[in-house]
Amino acid sequence: GSVVLAYSGGLDTSCILVWLKEQGYDVIAYLANIGQNEDFDAARKKAEKLGAEKVFIEDLRSEFVEEFIWPSVQANAVYEDRYLLGTSIARPCIARRQVQIAQQEGAQFVSHGATGKGNDQIRFELTCYALYPEVQIIAPWRIPEFYNRFRGRKDLMEYAEKHGIPVPVTPKAPWSMDANLMHISYESGVLENPKNHAPSDLYQMTKNPEDSPNEPDVLEIDFIKGVPVKVTHVKEGKSKDTPLEIFSYLNEIGGKHGVGRIDIVENRFIGMKSRGIYETPGGTILLHAHLDIETFTMDREVRKIKQSLGIKFSELIYNGFGPLEADYRATAIKAAWEREGHVPQRWFWYSPECEFVRHCVDKSQENVEGRVQLSVFKGQVYILGRESPKSLYNEELVSMDVQGDYDPCDASGFIKINAVRLREHNRLQGAAPKK
Ligand code: ARG
Ligand code: SIN
Repeated sequence: GSVVLAYSGGLDTSCILVWLKEQGYDVIAYLANIGQNEDFDAARKKAEKLGAEKVFIEDLRSEFVEEFIWPSVQANAVYEDRYLLGTSIARPCIARRQVQIAQQEGAQFVSHGATGKGNDQIRFELTCYALYPEVQIIAPWRIPEFYNRFRGRKDLMEYAEKHGIPVPVTPKAPWSMDANLMHISYESGVLENPKNHAPSDLYQMTKNPEDSPNEPDVLEIDFIKGVPVKVTHVKEGKSKDTPLEIFSYLNEIGGKHGVGRIDIVENRFIGMKSRGIYETPGGTILLHAHLDIETFTMDREVRKIKQSLGIKFSELIYNGFGPLEADYRATAIKAAWEREGHVPQRWFWYSPECEFVRHCVDKSQENVEGRVQLSVFKGQVYILGRESPKSLYNEELVSMDVQGDYDPCDASGFIKINAVRLREHNRLQGAAPKK
């Protein structure tokens, strides 16, 4: 049969490609461009040389931004309070196209190079099963004949030499990394000891804030329905207004000032803790900006509920149960599409719970509109000001100098009623003198 292999161009998946052929499969190599730094032409040639029947190189960058990054921005998606989910949202994006290719090419099998201990295997495969229920998955790192044969990098190198697989000339970094438009993650190898500091030459997307410019960059970000629609560099007066350009530009500015580096120990879905280092420059700027415009335009009680849904959304994405299929676009983009006469097709998510949460988050973003001005400087994002036609902020109401539509006398009763409980509690505790 035919198998569509998620091919990265690296040593592992090159060996997997040849090994699959040895097992008798026709191999279709599929390489997703989601913004990683890669020589795609070279990777194509390499896959062809290794005997791939066909090679698909798919530019998924725009859909990655519009359908995966933007919804995460709307949700303020953060896992365990710190991780912005750059790898987690990329997996369903990659796997979705992979099963489309499999179906189109009549391939019954898909394969990937994720290990048997991680999150990625789960995310890849849940996506595949959800969108192509009859699919058969080959995960070599979970097949004893494979992993017993390739016990380390040395075995892979030997196999590569024997089978004419070009071996990397530069020595491999002593850690594993995963790069895309949103972030780069670093794990394993010398990072496995959680006490070890990250080597200074590890980071690739961000400058060390110690060496970053002594001048901030001031940006203005415009949101509609919780989605960034424009970013302007205030001093230079230049702006970007397509999703891919907006996000790439924020990466550039964030990277220049060392924004978005984290070093954490996280909980994998599979049950173990792992140490990860991440750099998410553009995503971090957007998180700050979006939180700001959201609070400015959203009702207090809606915000509380939405915040808890955002945590749920993040967990679903991390665990591989989110998001989205078919023609979901971030609401603002979808609205523009509809104006142009596009008919949205099916809207559904891989899991019913994610679909539910996603719709609630989307609903909450209806009035999240306006402009945030911020400064990016020395690893930080400083909010400078905001404005919005949908603002719930009432300058007169809150002013110390004007009365507004508010009677201060009412506050006495409000406070006393709220104190009923406290007075009783503290009387019973003996903290307050008994009457
Ligand atoms: N721990 C992160 C996550 O689960 C990053 C995974 C990195 N994946 C990789 N293939 N290097 O989302
Ligand atoms: C892997 O196991 O392939 C990478 C780490 C992870 O998926 O969590």
